[in-house]
Amino acid sequence: MSDTNPIEALKALEAEALAAVAAATDAEALEKARVAYLGRSEGRISAILRGLGALPAAERPAVGQEANRVKAVVGNALEARTAALSSGPAASGEDLTLPSRGPWKGGLHPITQAIDEICDIFRDLGFTRARGPEADTLWYNFEALNTPLDHPAADEQDTLYLVDSVLLRSHTSPVQIRTMEAHEPPIRILAPGWVYRRDTYDATHTPAFMQIEGLVIDEGVTFVDFKGTLAEFARRYWGPDTEVRFRPSFFPFTEPSAEVDVKRVITRPDGTREDTDWLEIMGAGMVDPAVIANVGYDPERYTGWAFGMGPARIAKLKHGVDDLRTFFENDMRFLAQFAP
Ligand code: PHE
Repeated sequence: MSDTNPIEALKALEAEALAAVAAATDAEALEKARVAYLGRSEGRISAILRGLGALPAAERPAVGQEANRVKAVVGNALEARTAALSSGPAASGEDLTLPSRGPWKGGLHPITQAIDEICDIFRDLGFTRARGPEADTLWYNFEALNTPLDHPAADEQDTLYLVDSVLLRSHTSPVQIRTMEAHEPPIRILAPGWVYRRDTYDATHTPAFMQIEGLVIDEGVTFVDFKGTLAEFARRYWGPDTEVRFRPSFFPFTEPSAEVDVKRVITRPDGTREDTDWLEIMGAGMVDPAVIANVGYDPERYTGWAFGMGPARIAKLKHGVDDLRTFFENDMRFLAQFAP
């Protein structure tokens, strides 16, 4: 000890004492630390102060000053630690072994995830995203889409009228008209959004739901583009073995019209493959020349195709959800499964 620099020795002692104070978790351990460093008879800092008289006179003032500083620092640390321990949870008898609650994890709603995935695929195929108002006029919702107001198709889709001739849109097809009015061909858009129907709230219907509209208009667009693009979408979304079926249907704004179904091949855990049932994913068709004329394009020059797809149905199938209402109830036990 005599050949170590006493100032250095004090600094080391200070670090050691502070570590001991910090490591103390109860009053007993703190008292032990106090006795070991500052105790009147055994305290190592006290001992240095007591031994000052034995030092050469030239060293005495500096060592004495440093020893007093260390004594004060360690004394303060002891006091602070005593205060912290006596007000902390351990002192109040709380059970610190109880596991803490994990942080809340946020995530996108499964329908939003389906929309994003679908839009991503169509973006790679050259489509941009478009949007239109949820409350629209009779003209955009029906008449411009070649649906006279006394047509049964209009009856079925009678929704809530807000003011004269403005209603909650019953499909995203009005975005076709608004996009064609605002832009010149070529057009390739995808328009996701809320739509409203006079439907009861049950396992397979909700009076408000998301739809995704698709529209392509250009010179020389044929049924082959229509079928090929939708088949490509289905294979990218559900896998390369997915089959697509076009069933004849009717919509006033497409001619010919089709319901598009997909059949997927799934691989079971044991490696065997199985075909699923056909699932209807959208209404679609070649845009009726009357619609093309309604927006002021030349129907002799431009042709195109369109579809309206229900992403909730697609998400329902993907996640094995059997009741559409589950998507609307926002039960955290359900939603938390979709957080990343
Ligand atoms: N708008 C139709 C519906 O909601 C779907 C559709 C869109 C059909 C575009 C053909 C073309 O049922």
